[in-house]
Amino acid sequence: MSNRDMTQQQHWDNVYDDTKNFFGQQPSRLGLSALPVLKKNDVIEVLELGCGQGRDTWFFAKNGLRVTALDYSESGVCQMQDKAKEKQMEDIITAKIHDAREPLPFPDNSFDAIFSHMFFTMELTEEEAAKILHECRRVLRSGGLNIYSVRNNHDPHYGKFEKMGKDMWKNPGGFVVHFYNEETLRQLSADYDVLWIKEFDEPTNTYTRKLYEVVLRNLK
Ligand SMILES: C[S@@+](CC[C@H](N)C(=O)[O-])C[C@H]1O[C@@H](n2cnc3c(N)ncnc32)[C@H](O)[C@@H]1O
Repeated sequence: MSNRDMTQQQHWDNVYDDTKNFFGQQPSRLGLSALPVLKKNDVIEVLELGCGQGRDTWFFAKNGLRVTALDYSESGVCQMQDKAKEKQMEDIITAKIHDAREPLPFPDNSFDAIFSHMFFTMELTEEEAAKILHECRRVLRSGGLNIYSVRNNHDPHYGKFEKMGKDMWKNPGGFVVHFYNEETLRQLSADYDVLWIKEFDEPTNTYTRKLYEVVLRNLK
């Protein structure tokens, strides 16, 4: 199958099949900055969206949080499940294959916090992102936190490569990325209390990603 015909879900599966620890074994910068915020807010039960191979999942679990981690990549989720079994952490980490564009498979008020690094910045339209943020409110308890990151309009890849939709471009690696400006993020978060939106950098081997860290509190 050519790169062009492959869905993003198939692309992520291939990437995780081919490369163990594609994003490295260390937690992301968002994971590092989120942990003290989660601890300060007495968070125990966390839902992670787009967990990939779980670099942040492991970091949170090792630091005393219980994590339910979702991704639509069967390969990423199976690798996490095998590792959780091997390390006897199955009671702390639950990994599920799930496309987050479908309703989240949990009852109302199930989680103290939701975390996602570079998940909303995937091939999701603004309407889909809004729907998922709304669904997040349902499964979050009152006062719960939603912490996420997206690549932004100051990123060096913004406006480059193959246009795929509004504010979305497919890079030469075959990944579709949705870039957000601050105003759009504030509109998408209108039902939440916006605690802060701030820019941060994430260096790669070849360029530095520009992201927004978004921290929201669920008002019910
Ligand atoms: C940029 S990666 C980040 C992975 C992980 N958060 C990390 O930082 O290591 C984005 C992840 O989102 C997942 N993803 C993209 N769209 C998704 C969807 N609609 N439902 C569930 N997972 C999705 C991909 O499979 C991929 O693992």
